[in-house]
Amino acid sequence: MLPKKVETILNEQILREDYSSQLYLSMASWAENNGFEGVSVWLYAQAEEERVHMLKLVRYINDRDGVAVIPGINTPPTDFGDIFVMFDQVLAHEKFISGSINEIVAMCIAENDFTTQNWIQWFVTEQIEEEASVKTIIDKLKLLGKNNLYMFDRDILSMRGGGSAAAE
Ligand code: FEO
Repeated sequence: MLPKKVETILNEQILREDYSSQLYLSMASWAENNGFEGVSVWLYAQAEEERVHMLKLVRYINDRDGVAVIPGINTPPTDFGDIFVMFDQVLAHEKFISGSINEIVAMCIAENDFTTQNWIQWFVTEQIEEEASVKTIIDKLKLLGKNNLYMFDRDILSMRGGGSAAAE
């Protein structure tokens, strides 16, 4: 049985992962409409990954005899300015998510819920990878600069298997 406070904070994380999925879907759509095919493929796949994260939380809460609350959809922004600003926003968002995962770990410890503390480690590791991958993209973007955005876009396309929007 999940401690009530752990159930509550995990349900809050469902909302955040769901919003992450919607945010990246909106960014993917913006990128597609602004000529960044590679970036849109990366973001569409990222949106799918975030949905998988949300579903992991739903299943875990229910498996532990809690009640997963499926949130309503918050509408994300539709305009992201330019590609540099947008990826800075992606990194800031992932840092926010990492912080919220750390809050879950802290809550598990406070509530002596060592089962959830162990389970949530997958998310801790995932956040290290997600932040690192966005930082790599930002480094490439800075290296190539605004006069080489076509090359940047081709390069991002190769990060997702050359155009297949497969996500894991
Ligand atoms: Fe599920 Fe990118 O955090």
